Amino acid sequence: MTNPILAVEGLTVRGHRNGSPQVILDDISLKVSVGEIAGLVGESGSGKSMLGSAIGALQPINCEITAGRILWRDRDLRGADETVLSALRGSQIAYIFQEPMTALNPTLSIGRQMVDVIRRHTDPDERSARGKALKLLADVRIDSPEDVFNAWPHQLSGGMRQRVLIAMAFSCTPALIVADEPTTALDVTVQAQVLTLLLRLARDRRTAVLLISHDIGVIRRTCETVHVMYAGRIVERGNTAAVLAAPRHPYTRALLDCLPGRVQPKTRLNALSTSQQTMPGCSFRARCQSAFNQCSEVPPMADVLSVGAAACWLTQQNPLAGELS
Ligand SMILES: Nc1ncnc2c1ncn2[C@@H]1O[C@H](COP(=O)(O)OP(=O)(O)OP(=O)(O)O)[C@@H](O)[C@H]1O
Ligand SMILES: [Mg+2]
Repeated sequence: MTNPILAVEGLTVRGHRNGSPQVILDDISLKVSVGEIAGLVGESGSGKSMLGSAIGALQPINCEITAGRILWRDRDLRGADETVLSALRGSQIAYIFQEPMTALNPTLSIGRQMVDVIRRHTDPDERSARGKALKLLADVRIDSPEDVFNAWPHQLSGGMRQRVLIAMAFSCTPALIVADEPTTALDVTVQAQVLTLLLRLARDRRTAVLLISHDIGVIRRTCETVHVMYAGRIVERGNTAAVLAAPRHPYTRALLDCLPGRVQPKTRLNALSTSQQTMPGCSFRARCQSAFNQCSEVPPMADVLSVGAAACWLTQQNPLAGELS
């Protein structure tokens, strides 16, 4: 991999639920390089948002990083000073969240919020910050930037609000944008437009994106690399086309098998077993149709034919397992 700007190494996060401790992220490693569009996919509760927020040390207050490092251009953000972290967030690492209404301040106009962010991070001059904000609103294909600049968040549609958040995310030319389900709350016809817009801006500016989605179809269409999460662990990663053409982990295969386009018309969709039972060893073991004795130990991540890596004993015994499925 060339030029990683972000290298997460062995990240473990614990939380507390109803008084009992719980491992939420378990030994996560992930790299993102300059300008890379990387996807993070997995089912609900697998830990995607927790990982996205932990990257900027924004994990919830009742959750704690207990092991690992978050290297941002070789600087470990774990335990970094809050002033360092808040200078970094927005200017180097920006976030776009799923729900645009809660991400905007309802008591301030769009223009005021944009100008404040630009002035805080890059350009203290009010007039030129205003000019930059209007230019950004035009860049996200808003037809009347002046009107939106003067509007209040509640006066805009969901799609418009998400465009505003994309403009704000790019306003300080960050090196990485963490986009957590950025289009899930939008009307299906608007989803594709907004996602295309986000990725076009990122490619034009060489901004890396970590796109979080539960939809493997979205990741397939948009991301160069993919990281598949299951129960707080990364179970497979690699070049998206290669991983999805020949998935090595049974969970990745199961995700793909659930895609409607993969089955013949009028045949039943393969639904993944809903068992969430946790057992020692491989976390997917209880749901895996190929599980065998060795799966009672946690499989390490192992390289697969130079295109990626998977944490599965079966694949390690037979590297061609995905090719043959
Ligand atoms: N504040 C918290 N305290 C304790 N546990 C939490 C907290 N927030 C999330 N969790 C737990 O962490 C796990 C991962 O949650 P997370 O929100 O990261 O999942 P996700 O993959 O983003 O799911 P979704 O697709 O639904 O957004 C879940 O088991 C969740 O219950
Ligand atoms: Mg989430």
